[in-house]
Parts: sequence; C-alpha cells; structure tokens
Amino acid sequence: MADRLSSLREKCLECRLCPLCETRTNVVFGVGNPEAKLLFVGEAPGENEDLTGEPFVGRGGKLLDLYLNGIGLDRKDNIYIANMLKCRPPQNRDPKPDEMDHCIGYLRELVRIMRPEIIVCVGRISAQRLISPDFRVTKDHGVFYNKNGVLMMGTFHPAALLRDPRRKADCFEDFLKLQDKIRELGIEI
Ligand code: URA
Repeated sequence: MADRLSSLREKCLECRLCPLCETRTNVVFGVGNPEAKLLFVGEAPGENEDLTGEPFVGRGGKLLDLYLNGIGLDRKDNIYIANMLKCRPPQNRDPKPDEMDHCIGYLRELVRIMRPEIIVCVGRISAQRLISPDFRVTKDHGVFYNKNGVLMMGTFHPAALLRDPRRKADCFEDFLKLQDKIRELGIEI
C-alpha cells in the first residue's frame, strides 16, 4: 500500500491536467493514516493550504480538528483527509466541474488503495459530487448512504460554520452519528 500511495502522490505532485497547475504554490495531495478506514473529503485548498501543501490548516481546519478530537479521532492517526481538488482555485472560487473531472481520478485511486469503510464529505461540493447532485447539506447532513459498499455521509463545511455558528451543534451531532457508526461497524481506530 505505501508504494502505491507514494507513486500516486508523486504523479499528483507533477499534475498538469488543468490550468490550476499554473497558479498553485503546492499540490495538496492529502494527509493522515492511509491504513485508516475513514476518509474525509473537502472541497479544495485555500490560501493556507496552497502555501503549506496540507489540507485544512486554516481556521476552518482548527474547527475540523476540534470535531474530530471530540469523538476521539486525530487527523494524523485515525483518518485520511483529502480534497476534491488538489490545487487552489484562484480567490477560493468554487471548483469548476471540468476541474473536478480532471482531478477525481486521484481520489478514485486513493479510494482503491485505502479501501475506506466510511467517506465523510465535508461540505456541499464533495457531497454533491460523491453522494448525489441533489444533496442539500442543511437537509441531508448526517445521513449515511451506501454507495457500492462504502458508507458515505455529508456534513457542514467548517468555513460555513465559521460564517454561521448556529450550525455548529448540528455538525457535532453528525460527528456523534459517525462515532456511533464506527462502533456499530466495529472499526478499530
Ligand atoms: N477547505 C477545503 O475544503 N479544504 C481545505 O483543505 C481547506 C479549506
């Protein structure tokens, strides 16, 4: 597994499949434990992620870490975190569908290598692409969907929680549901 993952990472670090390669500082491939059974998928790198090469390192990332730690997870040990796009869209605009089409191969290969039991979509962009185009975070958050044997759940994006803190309790409830699911499936963390 380590070999397959490092060759995927190397290929991704050299990617020139879409114009975002011209404006990126770093490719943000992903971090965490590739042996984990939980994969978190966000949207795309922002400024801090572009500068450091690591996903979710800004204020939103700190909030995500709080929720993870709240259910006994740590981004380095028990999960893997990646994004739909590996390169920052200028001015943090939403990813374009064709950018996601170019980039999704890296995520698919990551899933083939890791074989996660649960994928958590962090925010609308990844939930609409991976769960359903009709996914509405306010309505469908915290629900588990079985897609080809992998359980998928969408929750709030931390940037949305920073804009609207009233949603924080709902988001933590989603994490508690995730904790229940981990226990139900007997996933070792
Ligand atoms: N937002 C995301 O969706 N991913 C990151 O890595 C940072 C901010």
